[in-house]
Formats: sequence, structure tokens, C-alpha cells
Amino acid sequence: MYLEQLHLQNFRNYQDQFVVFGAPKTILVGANAQGKSNLLEAVELLSTLRSHRTSRDRDLVLDGAPTAQITAQLRRDSGSVDLRLALQISGRRTAMVHSEAVKRQLDFLGYLNAVQFSSLDLDLVRGGPGERRTWLDGVLIQLEPLYAHLLQQYQQVLKQRNAFLKRQRSLNNPNLDPAQLVLWNQQLATLGARVIQRRHRMLNRLEPLAQTWHQAISGQTEHLSLEYEPNVRHDLTQPEQLFPEFLAQMQTKAIAEYHQATSLVGPHRDEVNLTINQTPARQYGSQGQQRTLVLALKLAELQLIEEVIGEPPLLLLDDVLAELDLNRQNQLLDAIQDRFQTLITTTHLGAFDAKWLQSAEVFAVESGYLSAVALNPSLG
Ligand SMILES: Nc1ncnc2c1ncn2[C@@H]1O[C@H](COP(=O)(O)OP(=O)(O)OP(=O)(O)O)[C@@H](O)[C@H]1O
Ligand SMILES: [Mg+2]
Repeated sequence: MYLEQLHLQNFRNYQDQFVVFGAPKTILVGANAQGKSNLLEAVELLSTLRSHRTSRDRDLVLDGAPTAQITAQLRRDSGSVDLRLALQISGRRTAMVHSEAVKRQLDFLGYLNAVQFSSLDLDLVRGGPGERRTWLDGVLIQLEPLYAHLLQQYQQVLKQRNAFLKRQRSLNNPNLDPAQLVLWNQQLATLGARVIQRRHRMLNRLEPLAQTWHQAISGQTEHLSLEYEPNVRHDLTQPEQLFPEFLAQMQTKAIAEYHQATSLVGPHRDEVNLTINQTPARQYGSQGQQRTLVLALKLAELQLIEEVIGEPPLLLLDDVLAELDLNRQNQLLDAIQDRFQTLITTTHLGAFDAKWLQSAEVFAVESGYLSAVALNPSLG
């Protein structure tokens, strides 16, 4: 798929910026705090309806303006798609496809597929399990927009069940409304089992792809594994055991749940163990090795989305290129070639291999304005 045009109106520090993308790679160059990441964030919002930087729409609207708009024209194999997202400082957002407001978020997801890779992604290795769950869920939503709906339902039930446990606790009554609790348990286990199965299936497909990339980049010396560790322990080869096992483990933890007044069983406590040569990646090796791992995961993600969707997704590289050594930069370049439309931010063009400038267009970003930069032929 190819993003042809993007129009930002009162979005972050952009007042009114129209961008036409004319090359497989677009490099946004500029000093700090000029709006490079903001532009990528706009694309992320069209892709996932979420920003990894904020959950409040008011942050996304230009200071002093009441509303913001992101409009895009996307070319897919099936034809051209117009996407629009209108944001307000207070009030609901509106998402439109071909100028028609969609009723459910779900109907907007899945048009623009994108994989993001930013310097913050090292947290995938170093951070807590929550980081890895967010990543897993993000990939799953791209593969299957319906998953967004499932996850939302699960989180809703989890919230209600937790509120119920708090009520029990504050009233000092473990026997408060047992029928109610049975109902929450059933719902949590039904939705939770579906979340677990999808995470499991996806990781199974992703792991061999990530291993191949990891071996290529690390020079075959290291063995990567992605091991799904669902909080509900069960025999992963017996999916029909999952639901009863989920209920049984809630039963086992009932007293602890009452005392802690929170749900202790379910995919909201899942983990993915990333290991290199049997050592947890978090403890393993240098920053460079951790970067190799994240790069392998991202390339695997790119490949899996392309396999499932049938079209290459966009790649968004925020600040990350300069952090990769030449070998890793070139691995990445070989992987994406000109097939994956790529948006790249950087503070210095000289920070990466000149090969990147082939088939690239460059925009300078300054205080929310873009201007085309003519490439110096000696660099190209
Ligand atoms: N709602 C908003 N209204 C106006 N300006 C905003 C808004 N949100 C963010 N900004 C401004 O946008 C700028 C940050 O933009 P961005 O994160 O895109 O920077 P960047 O070019 O990626 O910089 P870096 O190289 O440091 O990553 C800051 O100057 C910030 O004040
Ligand atoms: Mg930035």
C-alpha cells in the first residue's frame, strides 16, 4: 500500500500542511522539536487510532485551536481510500472513510497498515511485561481489526470485575453476591480465552520469521526464541482445555483476589519471554544486541503483516536509523528495498549510509512546516 497524500490541519504544531509523497522513502530532517515525530504520529493514528505518546486527544490539537484534522489518501491494490480523522479538545473524535463517518472504530482499522520502529522500542526488551503485551496487541490489531473489539470487551469486563472485587473488599464481605461473581468469571474466561488463543497463534507465526532475521543480522551466532507465557497455564496443544483451566485457576486464586481486590488471572498478566541463547534478552549483552533483537522483531512484523494482508505495510522509522551501525542499516535496507514505503526521521542526513538517499525524497521540517530539499548528487 502507498500513502499518496497527507493533510494536517491544526494537528500538534502543524497549522496547515499538505504533503504529497513521491518516492518509496521519505526522509524528514530537522532539529529537535520541529515536528518530525508529530508527522509520524499522524500516520500512526490513521493506522491504529492510537498514539503511543498520548491517550488524550487534546494533546494532539494545536494549542489554542478547538479541533484538528488528519486527512490522507491511500492507494491499495483494491483501489484508492480516503481516510479522515477529526479530533477535538473536548468531545468525541470522528473517523471517516470516503467522507463517511464510521460507526465503530473497527470499521476504520485495517485500511492503513504500518509498522513502527522508534528508539523507544528498546523498552520492548528492557521494559516490563506490559510493554510486550502492548506490542503483541498492536500487531494483532493490524492482522485482524476484530481483535481490537475483542480486547476492548475483555478490558471492559476486567474493569467491572475489579470494581466488584473492590466492593466486596470494602464491605468486608467475601460472600457478597456470588452469582454476580460467577457471571463475571464466565465472561472474563470466555473473552480471555479468545485473547490467549490469538496471541498464541500469532507468536507461533512470528517466531520463525524473527529467528531468520535475527540470524541474518547477528551472523548466525545467536539463537533467538519468543516464548509465550500465558498467565493461565494450560496445555497449549489442547485449546479446549483453556476455558475450564481459566475458571479453575480463578477458583484457586479466589482468596488472594478477594484480599488484593483485583483480578489475578487472565491475559492482562501474560508475558512473552524473549531469550537469546537461553538467556533472557533483558540481561543479555549490549545495547547493540538488544537493538538487533528489536530490529529482527520489527522485520518479522513487517513480513507477517505483508503475508496476512497481502500488501506491504508502511514502515515508520523514528530516530532509529542513526542508532544502527552500518551493517544493521544495510540489513534493514535490503529487507525493505523499495517495496515498503518508508518514512524516516533524522536530525542529520549524514548520520546514515548514503545508500538510503537512493530512491528517497527529503523534506526539511521546521516549526511545523515542510519544505522539499534538493539532494546533493554527490550524496545520492
Ligand atoms: N498540541 C500542540 N500544539 C502545538 N505544538 C505542539 C503540540 N504538541 C506538541 N507540540 C510541539 O511539537 C514539538 C515536538 O515535535 P516532535 O515531537 O515532532 O519533534 P521532533 O521534530 O520529532 O524532535 P526530536 O528530534 O527531538 O525527536 C514541540 O515543540 C512541541 O511543543
Ligand atoms: Mg522526534
